[in-house]
Amino acid sequence: MKIQGSVALVTGANRGLGAAFVEGLLAAGASKVYAAARTPATVTVPGVIPVLLDVTRPDQIERVASELTDVNLLVNNAGIGEMGPILAPSSVEALRRQLETNAFGPLLLTQAFASTLASNQNSAVVNVLSALTWFTLPSASGAYSASKAAAWALSNALRQELSSQGTSLVAVHAGYIDTDLVRGIAAPKIAPAEVVRQTLAALEAGAPEVFADDTARHVHAGLTTKPPMYVGMGA
Ligand SMILES: NC(=O)c1ccc[n+]([C@@H]2O[C@H](COP(=O)([O-])OP(=O)(O)OC[C@H]3O[C@@H](n4cnc5c(N)ncnc54)[C@H](OP(=O)(O)O)[C@@H]3O)[C@@H](O)[C@H]2O)c1
Repeated sequence: MKIQGSVALVTGANRGLGAAFVEGLLAAGASKVYAAARTPATVTVPGVIPVLLDVTRPDQIERVASELTDVNLLVNNAGIGEMGPILAPSSVEALRRQLETNAFGPLLLTQAFASTLASNQNSAVVNVLSALTWFTLPSASGAYSASKAAAWALSNALRQELSSQGTSLVAVHAGYIDTDLVRGIAAPKIAPAEVVRQTLAALEAGAPEVFADDTARHVHAGLTTKPPMYVGMGA
């Protein structure tokens, strides 16, 4: 798709990678950017249209989809990450919360915008996933990884169904991105703007996936090593 002249809706657009998407889309020539947030007053990027949207609220999703009928690029960026051992009883509720935000949210939004994307030319969906789609940090990311793995499977299913209406879907995988989500982790992190740059290039090229950094490329390659990386990353 062409970014120039596109009309985008970005979820979780008030900070982190979402704010970088908003800035990158404007810089690349998007004609209108709806910056969706749970608290629209926290959207600070000039030149965008703040929109109220909690992605776990089907009523808000329906309202936004019925009002924003000029959207031809949906960026499912909003996400949460709750770390902890999967054997802990609390992981069940943590998994439910992360599935609601990271998997059901993008699914409901894509369903709600599908007809709008079908009627607007040059349309696409971006789903922000993770390198943790394909492996689990020991005693930490079991529930988060499960939510992103679910979102990956949904992305692959949606890509196939959307292709018949001329809408493409780009799934984005990265290791650590330099945002609040991993503020306390001392590790190499990719800049949000670089993830956005690669994603916009993938949209323009019609590529189905982005492997934004060495971690994402390494873990993806680890799916086919013997033993595969996902059977155990070690402590
Ligand atoms: N940072 C990383 O290392 C990393 C790596 C790979 C993938 N990702 C993915 O990248 C995406 C963006 O994360 P980030 O790194 O920018 O994290 P972040 O700095 O913590 O920002 C998360 C954003 O999602 C929003 N959000 C959370 N729950 C929401 C909900 N129910 N409805 C609407 N918005 C909601 C937050 O809004 P509030 O301000 O209201 O909380 C915030 O705008 C996520 O999908 C994350 O899983 C991140």
